[in-house]
Amino acid sequence: MSDESIFLRALRKENLPIPPIWYMRQAGRYMPEYRAVRKNFKNFLDMCKNPEVCCELALQPIKAFKLDAAILFSDILTIPDAFGLGVKFVENEGPVFQNPIEKVDDIKNLMPFDPENLTYVYEAVTNIKNALPSNIPLIGFCGSPWTLAAYSIEGRSSKDFKKTINFIKENIDESHLFLSKLTDACFLYLRKQVQAGADVIQIFDSWANILDTEDLKNFSFDYIKLLINALKNDSVTSNIPIILFARDPKCSPGALIETSADCLSLYWSMNDFDIQFARNKTALQGNLNPKILLESRDVIKTETHKLLEKFEDFPGYVFNLGHGLTPDICPEKVKYLTELVREY
Ligand code: CP3
Repeated sequence: MSDESIFLRALRKENLPIPPIWYMRQAGRYMPEYRAVRKNFKNFLDMCKNPEVCCELALQPIKAFKLDAAILFSDILTIPDAFGLGVKFVENEGPVFQNPIEKVDDIKNLMPFDPENLTYVYEAVTNIKNALPSNIPLIGFCGSPWTLAAYSIEGRSSKDFKKTINFIKENIDESHLFLSKLTDACFLYLRKQVQAGADVIQIFDSWANILDTEDLKNFSFDYIKLLINALKNDSVTSNIPIILFARDPKCSPGALIETSADCLSLYWSMNDFDIQFARNKTALQGNLNPKILLESRDVIKTETHKLLEKFEDFPGYVFNLGHGLTPDICPEKVKYLTELVREY
């Protein structure tokens, strides 16, 4: 089936005449079709708990732009919610936790993670997979253990996650215990997504940028390595390509490659990433600045051509943005961008 998929071929590091295209946050508020469905739900997570609606939302960008991959419609915060931390999405504030991790006992007394609490996600995966053409793979995903820990301790979004940084410095052992529990949960969760039909996995380390080099290794990448290693050694998930998105990490390309991810998703500011060093070691995805899509068509064209030229001979390149599409972007621009890449 999906052997025909140019997305899977690129993830296997094949050099292709036209790169496969998908966009982070390709389903979301920038689309009027999305907003029409979204207005029926007060709480965003209630919408994620409806597998039929998730299927409809995941397919919207595929229908609109004929993209080369679909991504599960859900959120990374389903795992903390399943741990009983009570995740709510508040308008203009983002996620707010009713029971955040505030003290070491909250970690020690955390209920065991039961992957069956997230059955609604696996049902969404199966619905989406069944609705997709066979040559369009479905990406399942999770947040990295570190990024999930940061939201769970901070209790909300933040620019600098100060509370979280203080907590991990003061409670090193318990923080590692929490990260281990999250790593195990991510493994079970992704395994279930694959059993339900996910063809590819993406791990979002969206808050990698707030750690210095040493902490990044100790609190984030070591756990991502354990997670990838567990997936690569499990008969259900061993052949599933894994993409790692780490937001602007303070580390060498080597440290990212050492995680054993099959593909690295580059943040938009990572323009000095040594792509020659990465050659034949990993596939690469990215990394157009989403803000370019707020510019004129001429600017979009110039910047896109620059990027395509840079990755022209790279074996295993997936066209994407360097972070998610934002609500202020016009769908017409997304359509234009997609055509530009295919016509290049
Ligand atoms: O096409 C897709 O990518 C949709 C699936 C998806 C969502 N979130 C839906 C969503 C995916 C893959 C995510 C990942 C996610 N969620 C990340 C990692 C990616 C990244 O941006 O770095 C993170 C950090 C989250 C946590 C999260 N979810 C926040 C902080 C917020 C609120 C801020 C915001 O952007 O609105 C969300 C909400 C969210 N997740 C929305 C969508 C479509 C918007 C909710 C709404 O419609 O009200």
